[in-house]
Amino acid sequence: MDFELANALARIVELKDRSTGAHTWRVTMYAQAVAEAERMPVATVMGFMLGAVLHDIGKIDIPAEILSKPGRLTDAEYETMKAHTVLGWERVQRMGVRDPLVLNVIRSHHERIDGTGYPDRLAGEAIPIAARWFTVIDGFDAMTSLRPYRDGVGEDAAACAIEDLREHAGTWYEPRAVEVFEELHRTGRLDSILEHLNDREGHASLVGPLTPEAMSLARKALLESTTDAADVERIEAILDLGSEGTR
Ligand SMILES: [Fe+2]
Repeated sequence: MDFELANALARIVELKDRSTGAHTWRVTMYAQAVAEAERMPVATVMGFMLGAVLHDIGKIDIPAEILSKPGRLTDAEYETMKAHTVLGWERVQRMGVRDPLVLNVIRSHHERIDGTGYPDRLAGEAIPIAARWFTVIDGFDAMTSLRPYRDGVGEDAAACAIEDLREHAGTWYEPRAVEVFEELHRTGRLDSILEHLNDREGHASLVGPLTPEAMSLARKALLESTTDAADVERIEAILDLGSEGTR
């Protein structure tokens, strides 16, 4: 899968999940920064970034009421939400994605080192390394991004987030990844990404419709990824959101 289609699909997810904002964009840039800092080979950087773009693709299959619910999810809703990992992993495979790096980020980005994560409750090195690294990025952005139901994140949000990552290094997070991320933050490498579209104006700039080209790319890939009638109906409903140009 190329970045153009992956981006179109990520935008479709954002049509449903109002809290996402530019989350996908920022985590992809963080993924690039981390991969460069670790001097990963080019193919690895590309796979890691593509995994970042697609990590929440499974949210296409989660009801919008759950995705946008401002308060706490009920236990049943949380169970439904958790399924976005496996559903996304399954769907991109039906779209022809075979790169284990990409697949591992999608399926395992909510696992924790101590085995308390989901969906497979993997622990330690049983969690694919790309997913362990991505979890740190996803966690940092969740703690520092503006949400529709949370006004402003405060100037020290990044410092607090780094503190939280450090606190959970070895239990939730891969210690080496936390170390690298902390260093990137210390040297200011994350600042421009942190700021990117992370304000009310930035959120507003993402409300516009997808381009017709992006819509038709996403439509074709999504409809080809299923033969199930109910699924086709769900996909059409999401695509309608994009055509309306509002959300
Ligand atoms: Fe996720």
